[in-house]
Amino acid sequence: MGRVVPNDVDAAITGRRAVRAFLQDPVPLALIQHILAVASRAPSGGNLQPWKVHVITGGPKARLERTLAAALATPGYRGKPAYPYYPDRWFEPYDSRRRDIARRLYAALGIGRRDVIAMRRAEARNLEFFGAPVGLFFCTDRRLEAGSWLDMGMFVGNVMTAARGHGLDTCPQASFISHHDIVARHLGLAEEEIMLCGMALGYRDPDRPENAFESPRAPPSDFVTVHAGYGDAE
Ligand SMILES: Cc1cc2nc3c(=O)[nH]c(=O)nc-3n(C[C@H](O)[C@H](O)[C@H](O)COP(=O)(O)O)c2cc1C
Repeated sequence: MGRVVPNDVDAAITGRRAVRAFLQDPVPLALIQHILAVASRAPSGGNLQPWKVHVITGGPKARLERTLAAALATPGYRGKPAYPYYPDRWFEPYDSRRRDIARRLYAALGIGRRDVIAMRRAEARNLEFFGAPVGLFFCTDRRLEAGSWLDMGMFVGNVMTAARGHGLDTCPQASFISHHDIVARHLGLAEEEIMLCGMALGYRDPDRPENAFESPRAPPSDFVTVHAGYGDAE
């Protein structure tokens, strides 16, 4: 690494966090449009550009949040996930990692390990976009295949990096997929449109504990296998 100098792109990527508390400062629509245009330079197999984005703010956002809150408060309401984001049965190292990040978040919030009610309340903040002024929903055509979902991931990643470049923060949110029917109705999604995830967008509140914990990463030595002769010449 001695000869590698970190640059602005590195900083935009490494400066991103899943931010879970936002200031009320509005985000100009022109800036959102700019970020989405930049993100659309993402590559996609066959240049299919399979992304569709719904931007929600103000009254429509508040109405969706109220509907979701009412649904959550309805006895027997479970929601119906649009697709399984996680495996049914956990295994290592993934089980430990998800437990670890949840532990860090709840510890930052001062929520005890057995305080299920406080955990639920914190989780429900997802459906208010953690107080962000802007919500985004990322959709694609359900007739497309897994390759297009890979393209979607690149697009969504670009949105988060581009947002950082403008001092904005994000939290990608799979939580909404459990409530796909409600979201689809509110957004007026076409039958063939599937919403893959939501996202909170805004300016982070630097004083809130949920934004003040580290999310660890395994070092490259854990996930990289070098097969070529790199290092021979060094
Ligand atoms: C597609 C996707 C969906 C996610 N859904 C949620 C979510 O619903 N709620 C949440 O609080 N975090 C969500 N996250 C954020 C992850 O928990 C977070 O990225 C991870 O813990 C690493 O932390 P970091 O992003 O701050 O580095 C999601 C991340 C991704 C990529």
